[in-house]
Amino acid sequence: MTTDLDQLRADLLGSIDAAAGLEAIEALRVHALGKQGAITGLLKTLGGMSPEERQETGPRIHGLREAVTEALGARKAALERLAMDARLASETLDMTLPADGITTGSVHPVSQVMDELAEIFADLGFAVASGPEIEDDWHNFTALNIPDTHPARAMHDTFYMSPSPRLRGASGEDSPRLSSDRAGRDRPDAGRGEGQSASGDSLADMPLSPALSPEGEREQKKMLLRTHTSPVQIRAMKATGGNAPLRIIAPGRTYRSDSDATHTPMFHQVEGLVIDKGITLGHLKWTLETFLKAFFERDDVVLRLRPSYFPFTEPGAEVDVGYSLVNGKRVIGGSEGWMEVLGSGMVHRSVIAAGGYDPDQWQGFAFGCGIDRLAMLKYGMDDLRAFFDGDIRWLKHYGFSALDVPTLSGGVGA
Ligand code: PHE
Repeated sequence: MTTDLDQLRADLLGSIDAAAGLEAIEALRVHALGKQGAITGLLKTLGGMSPEERQETGPRIHGLREAVTEALGARKAALERLAMDARLASETLDMTLPADGITTGSVHPVSQVMDELAEIFADLGFAVASGPEIEDDWHNFTALNIPDTHPARAMHDTFYMSPSPRLRGASGEDSPRLSSDRAGRDRPDAGRGEGQSASGDSLADMPLSPALSPEGEREQKKMLLRTHTSPVQIRAMKATGGNAPLRIIAPGRTYRSDSDATHTPMFHQVEGLVIDKGITLGHLKWTLETFLKAFFERDDVVLRLRPSYFPFTEPGAEVDVGYSLVNGKRVIGGSEGWMEVLGSGMVHRSVIAAGGYDPDQWQGFAFGCGIDRLAMLKYGMDDLRAFFDGDIRWLKHYGFSALDVPTLSGGVGA
């Protein structure tokens, strides 16, 4: 018995030591300690032994069981450690590698500039107003004192909608569509937002104004794609009922029949309007100066107001911003040269009246400015058409992070 036990112990401990894997360990455990196991079998024999024999053999069998249990545990732990070491060696993860990029969109420079404008003007107490892009002739032209003979009313400057069946009667085409007699025309006026003027066409070139037809009233309801944001002046004034001060900006899309590197058929403007009592040209100048300094983030912005004609202003002025030449590049600030950035003026009496205010009591100033042009000047882009091409590479380069929210304290340019 003694030698049997010693032999069994040596065999078991040897096998355990040599076990190459967790499965072998488990097999050995069952073999020794399982229900039919060798040690279990020996323990069962204790019951049939004489007390003396049991006293002698019992502790040895128990000792064997303990030794085998312990050896199994130790070998199992060692094998698990080896397995872990092997995994650690093979499954390396280099935390210093750059993570896969997440594709994120970016904020279009036009949207960014609109946000910047809203931020700057909010600080001056201006609310943001809006109006429809499909506008009627009255709001876009008539209420703004734009005469029937003005070139901006011509078909080749403005996209008109075909009359709706309701207004048209039985004849004519059946669906609204855009009409313009000539797209892509060269127009000599430099930037957008500087007036309906300078069509460059001779009067003989213009069609007879349809507004002069006997169906005058019907013509007043003629629909078009607004050619500027100025109709929002009228809508905002009407909305107050004509008896409250008003301070708004109205950024949005505008449309003219034009297309080249600095003109696209759709472009963006921001309108500004202040109506109050005792408003003067001084308020206009201060507001524009404050706005342009904040926008270009420079204190040395110099403005030049040039007398100009907009039917809806009296007097009217075009505003130039001074620039300096730095390494042959134009940089806003100083006064080596001048760039036109916007149209402005005191609101014409008849426009104040069309807005429902008494022009003897209320005065105001207004300005209109091309947003795309502002963006180009500030962020150094040179082809306006790229703004609307939807080229993802251009947007990646010129776009803004969605988290770059413009703030006055943080710098509106973000
Ligand atoms: N509406 C004018 C334009 O489109 C700009 C402007 C607005 C001028 C307000 C004066 C006052 O060019």
